[in-house]
Amino acid sequence: MGVENIKKVAVLGAGTMGNGIVQVTAQAGYQVAMRDVEDSFVNRGMDTIKKSLSKFVEKGKMQAVEAEQVLARITPTTEFDVVADADLVVEAVPEKLDLKVDIFRQLDQKCKPEAIMASNTSSLPITAIGAATRRPDKVVGIHFMNPVPVMRGVELVHGRSTSEETLETAKEFVKSLGKVPTVAQDYAGFITSRVLNIYLNEAAYTVMDGNSPKDVDDGMVYCTNMPQGPCALMDLVGIDVVVYVLGILEEEFGEKFKAAPLLKQMVRAGHLGRKTGLGFYKY
Ligand SMILES: NC(=O)c1ccc[n+]([C@@H]2O[C@H](COP(=O)([O-])OP(=O)(O)OC[C@H]3O[C@@H](n4cnc5c(N)ncnc54)[C@H](O)[C@@H]3O)[C@@H](O)[C@H]2O)c1
Repeated sequence: MGVENIKKVAVLGAGTMGNGIVQVTAQAGYQVAMRDVEDSFVNRGMDTIKKSLSKFVEKGKMQAVEAEQVLARITPTTEFDVVADADLVVEAVPEKLDLKVDIFRQLDQKCKPEAIMASNTSSLPITAIGAATRRPDKVVGIHFMNPVPVMRGVELVHGRSTSEETLETAKEFVKSLGKVPTVAQDYAGFITSRVLNIYLNEAAYTVMDGNSPKDVDDGMVYCTNMPQGPCALMDLVGIDVVVYVLGILEEEFGEKFKAAPLLKQMVRAGHLGRKTGLGFYKY
């Protein structure tokens, strides 16, 4: 199915990523159903979208009437059956393989034969998720970045059984959202998480060597033009999340992704970054 056949999109999950994906998809003119398991989660997702759109309106980047039209294209729901007439489903539920496999089994039962079924997973194998269905050629990774309305790039993940046609349609869909697609093969961490996390881990080792987080960050920002230093970035992402992702990468690629002892010690201390008020920096 080509991108011209995509009219209705269903997004599963109304959390951090799900509501952002719903927003940019509705902004691009698609009809979107946003499904979560409880009304309160769906409502929270809608509130986040409304806030984000009003910011665009306040800044003069969008007309008020346009924001209304975007909202009118969104159907908030707790019904799973909305996937039945979707041309594209984007799954954005928590990062648990069992949960995603279970959802893709259900999608396989309910979706139209030509529908594309995508996962927003940031670390799980698309090949395994696709294998839960009888149509793994229609399963692809569409890995949006956080915050979705702001970040320009989207990583497409080419599972072992993903067809070229599915990948091409996913690419065109991402472009239609005004974003830039990049394609990654289906190994742990794809391209972005793999390259980023080895860099973050090495930065942690330089702090262990006695360099201050500020010196490490300033060096990377002013000498290599990184928009943000690695220590500040780890504090933002969460030290526990960095250690968790490094664990997944170590499982796939071995030793070189072993988390720096400093990061593990910070997790033990509960110094997880911004969310706990202390990480490499104090907040
Ligand atoms: N947060 C990030 O920075 C980020 C970035 C890129 C990718 N991702 C990936 O996106 C996915 C979602 O992450 P998130 O941060 O939005 O999580 P989140 O916890 O904010 O949201 C997940 C939502 O899914 C809902 N949910 C659970 N089971 C469901 C079901 N069966 N049907 C529909 N909804 C269900 C939950 O109630 C919750 O509202 C994960 O795979 C994650 O790895 C996250």
